[in-house]
Amino acid sequence: MCGIVGYIGNNDSKEILLRGLEKLEYRGYDSAGIAVANSEGVHVFKEKGRIADLRKAVNGDVFASTGIGHTRWATHGEPSRENSHPHQSQSGRLTLVHNGVIENYDLLKREYLHDVPFKSETDTEVIVQLVELFMNEGKDVEEAFRKTLSLLHGSYALALIDHQDPDTIYVAKNKSPLLVGLGENFNVVASDAMAMLQVTREYVELMDKEMVIVTKEKVTIKNLDGETVERQSYTAELDASDIEKGTYPHYMLKEIDEQPLVMRKIIQNYQDGEGALEIDSDIVKAMKKADRIYIIAAGTSYHAGLVGKQFIERMAKVPVEVHISSEFGYNMPLLSEKPLFIFISQSGETADSRQVLVQVKEMGHPALTITNVPGSTLSREADYTLLLHAGPEIAVASTKAYTAQLAVLAILAEVTAKSRGFAVEFDLVKELGIVASAMESLTDSKEAFEDIAREFLTVTRNCFFIGRGIDFYVGLEGALKLKEISYIQAEGFAGGELKHGTIALIEQGTPVIALATQDFVNLSIRGNVKEVAARGANPCIISMKGLETDEDRFVLPEVHHLLTPLISVIPLQLISYYAALHRDCDVDKPRNLAKSVTVE
Ligand code: F6R
Repeated sequence: MCGIVGYIGNNDSKEILLRGLEKLEYRGYDSAGIAVANSEGVHVFKEKGRIADLRKAVNGDVFASTGIGHTRWATHGEPSRENSHPHQSQSGRLTLVHNGVIENYDLLKREYLHDVPFKSETDTEVIVQLVELFMNEGKDVEEAFRKTLSLLHGSYALALIDHQDPDTIYVAKNKSPLLVGLGENFNVVASDAMAMLQVTREYVELMDKEMVIVTKEKVTIKNLDGETVERQSYTAELDASDIEKGTYPHYMLKEIDEQPLVMRKIIQNYQDGEGALEIDSDIVKAMKKADRIYIIAAGTSYHAGLVGKQFIERMAKVPVEVHISSEFGYNMPLLSEKPLFIFISQSGETADSRQVLVQVKEMGHPALTITNVPGSTLSREADYTLLLHAGPEIAVASTKAYTAQLAVLAILAEVTAKSRGFAVEFDLVKELGIVASAMESLTDSKEAFEDIAREFLTVTRNCFFIGRGIDFYVGLEGALKLKEISYIQAEGFAGGELKHGTIALIEQGTPVIALATQDFVNLSIRGNVKEVAARGANPCIISMKGLETDEDRFVLPEVHHLLTPLISVIPLQLISYYAALHRDCDVDKPRNLAKSVTVE
């Protein structure tokens, strides 16, 4: 939520900042702004709307080789020009961008800033006004910034410039992601390495409660006591082409198409020299030791967790509970004696999941993070990490990360099963290979899914997904995909549960997408389809080879019955994509959403 960038060097900063913000737009796109500083002062450009709108508002004539920028997902105060960042101190000397939430901003305002007229409704403005207040008391910028940081409760990634010293950017981080990028005669700041790949691949990670003084020659990291901290840089293993759309109209479509490749990459990354599946031995030991596994996640990752529970319980025979992270903290179940927590998070930054991780670490329990982003907060703070190897996922709607999560969970289940002495009755490497080929044939069948979207979803106001067992969980994910990008009210239901209330929602023509990939419930889910059809619904059955009937709209290629979610989700992703497209929705940047949800 919200993305920040900064540049200090010899070149004009405006284009670098704007291009960086374009790469960070997935983090929020309500409004955006940049502030650039030169010897004449600071120039602030900001606009409600997208980076494209900001671009139009930027005056190309100003040359300034220092700048900071921000793309916003509103938390405090509606999306508006006034509330968009950067924010300035009362005198205009200081300019600041912020990602995160300052929980005690109101308290600080009342205690320290009652005489200061505020220009916005944001929590951020409190920070910049406080720094100026402490400077007015005689401190220099660094001291005033440090004192301000010591008063803040909450999350922040901050970049601050002082127009009396355009040769320095002051940076700080707590709980929100932030990196400093290194270059020859320039340095940069970014919420995500992707933003600044245009100029550097060399980064320094920042830890919570650190501040950094960035000039074009030097990066000095300090803790809040003012002591200097030494840190090695690393090279981001990202290729600029990973984050380009190429010839695709949308990232979402590109990412859907990448799924077979991701499957193959995962198989490769989790194989030992002999071709057997392999996972870090410490993780296997932790899995073996656990008497119960608690999967914690949000949204699509939660849906992956529901399927992962089936994999782990059926293969490794360890009981698993799956919890929504935003609920778990307040609503903690009785824990077993030897729990292991698994956090599933594409971004590795989801604040709801992180607050649970902090809680369980305080309780002394072991934690494993399954994430797509090495070095992300959840990865750093857990005891163990398993990577998804899916490559950057940029579209807000998660697609390839979901199937990658399922594959990694299946591998974890298999390796754990073997370590616990349970035979797995199928060859997972071979079956995942079959999945990858099946995925390819599905991504090659886009027309069929576009037809379904056109026929079932062009004019409807709602749509239901039904399934039993593992198909129910995929239905939940299908419904989330559809609602988040097409704004059609969509819900997933367990087939057998319909008659207990939900069936009342069925009207003439209501689309009902039914998944039928499981032999043992094939007849019962088809019975549920008959029930809704008898009440006027327009059913669309997606079944699997071997289970099909003449009434089915699409038949999936056959894969192992436990792995069907890896392929049955692809039609649902594509149907959602085309539904959104036909309804003129912004597929990659749906309204009100952001990719990385770093506020609780
Ligand atoms: C939906 C989607 C979200 C995320 C959720 C958790 O398409 O992307 O529901 O799955 O916000 O995000 P991560 O996995 O980054 O923790």
